[in-house]
Amino acid sequence: MTTHPLAALGEAAAAEVRPGMRVGLGTGSTADAFLRALGRRVADGLTMTGVATSDRTADLAASLGIPLANLDEAGRLDLGVDGADEIDPALDAVKGRGGALLHEKLVALACADYLLIAAAEKRVARLGTRLPLPVEVVPFGWRQTAERLRRLGLEPQLRLGARSEPFRSDGGHFILDCVTGPIVEPAFLAAAIKQTAGVVDHGLFI
Ligand code: A5P
Repeated sequence: MTTHPLAALGEAAAAEVRPGMRVGLGTGSTADAFLRALGRRVADGLTMTGVATSDRTADLAASLGIPLANLDEAGRLDLGVDGADEIDPALDAVKGRGGALLHEKLVALACADYLLIAAAEKRVARLGTRLPLPVEVVPFGWRQTAERLRRLGLEPQLRLGARSEPFRSDGGHFILDCVTGPIVEPAFLAAAIKQTAGVVDHGLFI
């Protein structure tokens, strides 16, 4: 039997979950490995409640028998576990390749403790060097929002789905994948993007 390369990460993160915890459940292949390991612990008797960061994660968690609540029912969470696309030495991160960045961020903000789990390839000296930065925008007037982001020095491209239609997040928004080049001041860029009309949120997790 071969072991999935992310399985050890998932096991290590699942070992951090204590009885009675309310836990934010991330989205993506790394978070899936955590969910599978957590599902095994729940099957062995662990009591906990999960809050999913995406419909996809909610479906997987339910299929694994992990009890779920929504964010408002759960309130403050004890721990969040999620993957990342880039992590820099200050532990700032870029997330959102899976398109779940908005709900991931709302869940992360509710967590007392937050565990990012990622394979070594996600470590970067500077954010913005490995993949474009996802920015979630309202569909209405998105081209003008993209233009405003261009004026910040970004190169936005509308994310497309499998049939070349605009990809929609679980919240029904579009995602602009923005080439940034190396991000020198992540907090500064995060604030500038967040202030842009039409932007819902961005993948910088500071
Ligand atoms: C989902 O929107 C993302 O933020 C993921 O957490 C991130 O893209 C990592 O995904 P993988 O674990 O699949 O690389």
